[in-house]
Amino acid sequence: MKRYDNIILEQDNDLAVITINRPNKLNALNRETIQELHDAFEKADADPSIKVIIITGSGEKAFVAGADISEFANFSVKEGKKLAAKGQELLFDFIENLSTPVIAAINGFALGGGLELAMACHFRVASDNAKMGLPEVSLGVIPGYGGTQRLPSLVGKGRAMEMIMTAGMIDANQALAYGLVNHVTSQDELSSLCEKIASKISRNSSVAISAAIRAINANFEDGINGFEVEIHEFGTCFGTKDFVEGTTAFLEKRKADFPGK
Ligand code: COA
Repeated sequence: MKRYDNIILEQDNDLAVITINRPNKLNALNRETIQELHDAFEKADADPSIKVIIITGSGEKAFVAGADISEFANFSVKEGKKLAAKGQELLFDFIENLSTPVIAAINGFALGGGLELAMACHFRVASDNAKMGLPEVSLGVIPGYGGTQRLPSLVGKGRAMEMIMTAGMIDANQALAYGLVNHVTSQDELSSLCEKIASKISRNSSVAISAAIRAINANFEDGINGFEVEIHEFGTCFGTKDFVEGTTAFLEKRKADFPGK
């Protein structure tokens, strides 16, 4: 696997694990890290042997404590707009629309761009020490990597308004109650729980899963009729080898062995 300076990309059979590795900066996202993450996600997504991607932070303290504040502290209006647009294109929208499922394993602080990164993933699992928030207004700015859009769609408008306006943090159990994370476990068991979920996913048709991601995402896109996207994606599945294998295996009372095509 390719070597990076700020992240680690590892493969274990059909699972890829991406670890953001700047623990002494609490894994804050600087420009280089965002570029490396883009590259790693692109590579993992293009590799047909990889069925699920887990993203996490190194160390026991943080998933990601935000965008790297030291990098944008003296940016102009124009540079600020570019920072948000480029980040969304390279990483946040990129992950949300990836064909391969991405699970965020939130192992500590997920603040600002860190929570936005977790929210761009297809779903989230947290350790019980995790703390989540969008503290941008305490810095005189607003979330710029999709936080004002994805947080309300995950937790509801009123809760998102309160979280963003107070710049406060919620703990893992509150995030669970809000539906921001799907599961909470101990830090020791976080990777094994994510791997267990990943192995359930990877038994299924990767082609159908990619179609499901596109159809579900269509529900959140303006001007797109998600039901029509679902009909299209559903129909397209009938032309895949995975569909032939899945239905044949069921009728033959055996487990499907999907070719992923
Ligand atoms: N950008 C750049 N550096 C960051 C960072 C960020 N978002 N978050 C943490 N760091 C750095 C700190 O500057 C410090 O570096 P240093 O040792 O070179 O001074 C190091 O990471 C450790 O952080 P520290 O603040 O000492 O840890 P702490 O345990 O006292 O506090 C936090 C933890 C998460 C509460 C605190 O780091 C924090 O508030 N971070 C910023 C969160 C934020 O506003 N994110 C949104 C950005 S848009």
